[in-house]
Amino acid sequence: MRPRILVTQKVPDAAYPLLEEIGDVTANLEEGRIWTYDELLERAPGHDYLYTLVTDTIDERLLIACATATPRLKLVANMAVGYNNIDVAAATRLGIAVTNTPGVLSETTADLAFGLLIAAARRITEAERYLRAGKFTGWGPLLFCGAEVHHATLGLVGIGRIGREVAKRAHGFDMRVIYYARHRLTPEEEARYQLRYASFDELLQQADFISLHTPYTPETHHLIGERELRLMKPTAILINTARGAVVDEQALVRALQEGRIAGAGLDVFEHEPVVEPALLAMEQVVLLPHIGSASLQTRILMATTASNNIRAHALGQIPPNIVNPEVIEQGDGGQGNDGQGDRQGTPLQ
Ligand code: DGY
Repeated sequence: MRPRILVTQKVPDAAYPLLEEIGDVTANLEEGRIWTYDELLERAPGHDYLYTLVTDTIDERLLIACATATPRLKLVANMAVGYNNIDVAAATRLGIAVTNTPGVLSETTADLAFGLLIAAARRITEAERYLRAGKFTGWGPLLFCGAEVHHATLGLVGIGRIGREVAKRAHGFDMRVIYYARHRLTPEEEARYQLRYASFDELLQQADFISLHTPYTPETHHLIGERELRLMKPTAILINTARGAVVDEQALVRALQEGRIAGAGLDVFEHEPVVEPALLAMEQVVLLPHIGSASLQTRILMATTASNNIRAHALGQIPPNIVNPEVIEQGDGGQGNDGQGDRQGTPLQ
């Protein structure tokens, strides 16, 4: 029997033929239409493979429904590097593999993080709104003076693939780059990326720009909260392209309203797609709709990577980007694990 595959949202075209070659595909082809949790719960059981996006909540209840249906769910392929939308622990318990799409989006996401940094520092979106509103009456010596980017200090929280790519970009601007991560890099790596390690508090106190590159886990929930914001310079700008809930959004709003930090560039939000109204009202904040990896080439690569993870499993191979290889070791029908899965692939770490 050919495996049954469910694709929960419209994804780049290149993804489908790869799946159709090996299975029967059911796909939500309505552009921009995200199935509700209840729709997902109704439609997902009875598939061998789920091809999911960060907007799909794949929790224990849904996984149990899929694990007890026929055919039984074998793998969830998330078209994203982050997989906090999936209860991986429950999937592992149920013998369901989970894969992500690391590597292919690191540079693209780093480009956007740096774009946000410059936009917030140089007040680009604020100035554009002013011009479009017809308020530009001529060059002014004090018009939209922002913060200097070159030679400033950038603090990277998390130094996986995306963090390192941001560091490379920062060196082009002669920035001093410090980082904090749970696992310090080797001296050789620090030298290669021209990075200086700092304690978390040191980084918060010294950085002019703080850019977040950690995955969202229980440990990183509200990593940046009231205390951390109070340690930052009043001129500091916070950049978040990781996950919204790494920052306590209410604490951030207070810090910005009280001028305890100067600004923020946010691509992700704590309660996405809801954006805190207080943030929408602030000129010193640049807000984007979670587009870190949104270049067409990268989205095609992410889409085909997710398809290839499903294909690999269906062809009896180890999916290249498995995040819970224990499942294969336990014997979920895969062909054993040679440990070669790319699991360092959480560039948000
Ligand atoms: C990811 O890959 O985790 C992004 O947030 C979605 O592009």
